[in-house]
Amino acid sequence: MKSINSINIIKPDDWHVHLREGNMLEAICNHTSRINVRAIVMPNLKLPITTAKQGIEYKQKIIQLTKDPNFIPLLPCYLTESLDLSDFKLALEKKIFIGAKLYPTNATTNSSFGISKIENIYSSLEILSDLHKPLLIHGEKIGKNIDIFDREKFFIDEVLIDIRDRYPNLKIILEHVSSKYGADFINENNNIAGTITPQHLMLTKKDLFFDDSINPHHFCMPVVKEEIDLLALRKYACSGNKKFFLGTDSAPHHIDFKINNFKSKPGIFSAPCSIEIYTNIFDEENKIHNLESFSSLNGPNFYELPINLTSITLVKKKWKVPEYTLFKDIKIKNFMGGEELNWKISQ
Ligand code: DOR
Ligand code: ZN
Repeated sequence: MKSINSINIIKPDDWHVHLREGNMLEAICNHTSRINVRAIVMPNLKLPITTAKQGIEYKQKIIQLTKDPNFIPLLPCYLTESLDLSDFKLALEKKIFIGAKLYPTNATTNSSFGISKIENIYSSLEILSDLHKPLLIHGEKIGKNIDIFDREKFFIDEVLIDIRDRYPNLKIILEHVSSKYGADFINENNNIAGTITPQHLMLTKKDLFFDDSINPHHFCMPVVKEEIDLLALRKYACSGNKKFFLGTDSAPHHIDFKINNFKSKPGIFSAPCSIEIYTNIFDEENKIHNLESFSSLNGPNFYELPINLTSITLVKKKWKVPEYTLFKDIKIKNFMGGEELNWKISQ
């Protein structure tokens, strides 16, 4: 078969990204806008985004700092057990929030304000369902007796099935799906879709526990899992299956919070090379013809948003990902930093 050296795709969207705030936001937002028209920006700031006012201000800040005037940040409301429901409803109606994000308490970065008992947010879920707005989920159940590698499965069995059965019309995105169990569940359930990150298509636990040590730059939540999970995720992502789409979960932390610290923060920063990594993967799987579905069609179709009108070109050309992103006092280790990729966006 003749190998392809260049591919033109509708400009992607990133359906799950962290842009943070302050200098960090300024340091990274243009990496996301370089390749995406829209991005769903996670609301897990130090003070989570839970009100319409905060939502408006945060979106304005992002627009102000992003060089591309066509970039559109979309924002889900951070669900808490004490949300002001009339403000929440109004913000959804006015499209300040695209939907809402469920973080189980202490499942990941800045999730201490999250949900400890699903019953406590039934009224928020009812509002979402009634207004036909999506629920975005960090699908991990935390518990003393739950192994870190089984958190996704426990969440599905003990929480997600309850939500699904209670709100059959609610649209749900199981974000950064990380296991075969989770991906199969998405595939089998109506109204449920999933985003898949570059790292969950690239790494297994062997890359996290490497050379008898832990690589903090490969630590994210949900943690990367077994070979069987990686293969299942690759199959679903690359097959053109409409229920799976691009969500990088690009989540930068200053390097000091990743290393030289007893508690490394979870998060992998892939924005400087995310579309190139996805393209590499689709090429490796001989499925490059399905890249556009994953990157640019399945997401807007599930979210019921228009398909983008512009396009980007990727060319087969070796390049080395810079090791770090540096800006003012910020230093972030780039995912794949220092390594070679085969594809590059042509500017
Ligand atoms: O690894 C992660 N980092 N997973 C998440 O869900 C959150 C993210 C962050 O905000 O750092
Ligand atoms: Zn995330």
